[in-house]
Amino acid sequence: GSIDDLGELRGKRVLVRSDLNVPLDGATITDDGRVRASVPTIKQLADAGARVVVTAHLGRPKGAPDPAYTLEPVAERLGELLGQDVAFATDTVGASAHETVEALEDGQVAVLENVRFNEGETSKDDDVRGSFADQLAQLADAFVSDGFGVVHRKQASVYDVALRLPSAMGGLVAREIEVLRRLTVDPERPYVVVLGGSKVSDKLGVIDSLLEKADKLLIGGGMVFTFLKAQGHEVGKSLLEDDQLDACRRYLDQAVERGVEIVLPTDIVVDTAFPSDDREPQPVVVPASEIPADSLGLDIGPDSAAAFVAALADARTVFWNGPMGVFETAAFADGTRAVAEALTKVTSSGGLSVVGGGDSAAAVRTLGFDEAAFGHISTGGGASLEFLEGKELPGVAVLER
Ligand code: 3PG
Repeated sequence: GSIDDLGELRGKRVLVRSDLNVPLDGATITDDGRVRASVPTIKQLADAGARVVVTAHLGRPKGAPDPAYTLEPVAERLGELLGQDVAFATDTVGASAHETVEALEDGQVAVLENVRFNEGETSKDDDVRGSFADQLAQLADAFVSDGFGVVHRKQASVYDVALRLPSAMGGLVAREIEVLRRLTVDPERPYVVVLGGSKVSDKLGVIDSLLEKADKLLIGGGMVFTFLKAQGHEVGKSLLEDDQLDACRRYLDQAVERGVEIVLPTDIVVDTAFPSDDREPQPVVVPASEIPADSLGLDIGPDSAAAFVAALADARTVFWNGPMGVFETAAFADGTRAVAEALTKVTSSGGLSVVGGGDSAAAVRTLGFDEAAFGHISTGGGASLEFLEGKELPGVAVLER
């Protein structure tokens, strides 16, 4: 059900699972998109008089407290965006959590420390996860699942806790599902998918299912070098997943059989080292078939960017996941910028453009695009891919049970 189905919330303690997993540079948030996306539901609950207890993860700490992954700066940012004080508990289910929650008044908000500081959160053992979920459930009278980016994880704060408290789907999860469903149920054609990011292995399932649904598949980013190698090209020091070469060859063959056009870059921007603070980038454009042995690919080249833009020109539905290059460095941002711009044109001509994935969402914002120029910017990376694959999302299924 939705939050309205939870009944009167005044005075109730409501545990909200948000996805506040933002990119950080030290303690500085480099893209607060996920925090902003989490505000409406938290505000809705606070305005209804609930005592709001937010639980979330940051990064992948190893089931124990790790100061590098504290949620404290994120809680602070949430307070700024909400325009009200946000209390912070220095543990997730311990003494600090209990004291902090007990001190809440109606309409006030607290954030619990990184839920992944507890091994029970991500344990594969149902009992271990379950007893941690029991502890989380003790802190609240109801649960709202609003972290779309984590609904594909069968974890205590996403799945098990929903079995223990009256539970509802937050507006963010509901909206994400509604838009992504438009990509899977009868998408308007041509339907073009752009995939980038570093790993082919993260995208295997989605490529399988997209080869049955999309009209064109454009591939860039770090994952493209495994495809180029699969075509017989040398890729120098570029990212390469040797164990995925067969999968890439299979996809290239299947695409031909199914009449899906796979567009790979024909030129690449390379350098002899990955960008770092103590070295000026020295970008060089080379043919994709001639990447020098001492170089690595860091962006798609200008001819490829133009070809991608042309392939997107008549698209009516576009899903884009994963940057085309190391967009954080200006010298390697052009491919990502060109794709983003092409998506804005799809939107302005009345088509549906969806940006999925933490990195591509961060890319469009850090490159200065107006979020409104896209049909939808998903807060989910893996979650949006698994949705498109047609996989059951545990954090959604548990609410619909
Ligand atoms: C994400 O960044 O995609 C979500 O926050 C999930 O994080 P995870 O991949 O570490 O589970």
